[in-house]
Amino acid sequence: MANQTGLWGCSAADRNKGPILEVLEEVLPERGLVLEIASGAGRHVAYFAAALAGPVWQPSEPDAELRRMISAAVAGMPNVREPLDLDVLRRPWPIPAADAIVNINMIHVTPWDATEALVGGAAEVLADGGILYMYGPYRRFGGHTAPSNAAFDERLRMQDGRWGLRDMEDVERLASEAGLALERRVAMPANNFSLVFRRGRRRGSFSPRTGR
Ligand SMILES: C[S@@+](CC[C@H](N)C(=O)[O-])C[C@H]1O[C@@H](n2cnc3c(N)ncnc32)[C@H](O)[C@@H]1O
Repeated sequence: MANQTGLWGCSAADRNKGPILEVLEEVLPERGLVLEIASGAGRHVAYFAAALAGPVWQPSEPDAELRRMISAAVAGMPNVREPLDLDVLRRPWPIPAADAIVNINMIHVTPWDATEALVGGAAEVLADGGILYMYGPYRRFGGHTAPSNAAFDERLRMQDGRWGLRDMEDVERLASEAGLALERRVAMPANNFSLVFRRGRRRGSFSPRTGR
């Protein structure tokens, strides 16, 4: 993958980290392992791990230069591990289990098969009851939610025809088919959304009679 530090190391993370943290505070477990996928330059994980010290944070990023930036951003933080080289398309992922997965602003700058791989990999790695948190801009019911999103979508598609804003309904359907139930849909500043999915009981262990 080309080094895209200039694009990803931008200030969007500084603008959205506060509103995202407000949602994460409500949905993440107090303990356990939180895997971030596509950590970019590590701005989010450094901020979240400082605010939420209970869980252990595992950043990941396929771009080697960005991984070096993550290591620098989280240096000395006792509850953050060194970043993993994790490309959602390469399975199995280099981590067997996680209690929650956080993914911010990735699926519109990757081909659709990366969204499929993210959701499929999350369903494999998450524990029962585990959380998949996804943040970004989405289309809804076949249309854009704001003119600025439509313009952004056009720029993305010109850059790479396989990129672009995803239909929220497609993402929710994909997750549902993988056993990840939509728990919360939160409108965020600047026409973005947070989607929170919870991993259901593994096939075979769920009993509709007892609910366990
Ligand atoms: C727009 S940046 C977002 C970075 C960071 N999450 C943020 O919000 O600042 C998109 C990120 O997705 C990563 N990415 C692209 N393809 C990926 C893949 N197949 N698997 C995992 N990460 C990928 C890029 O390397 C980049 O860090």
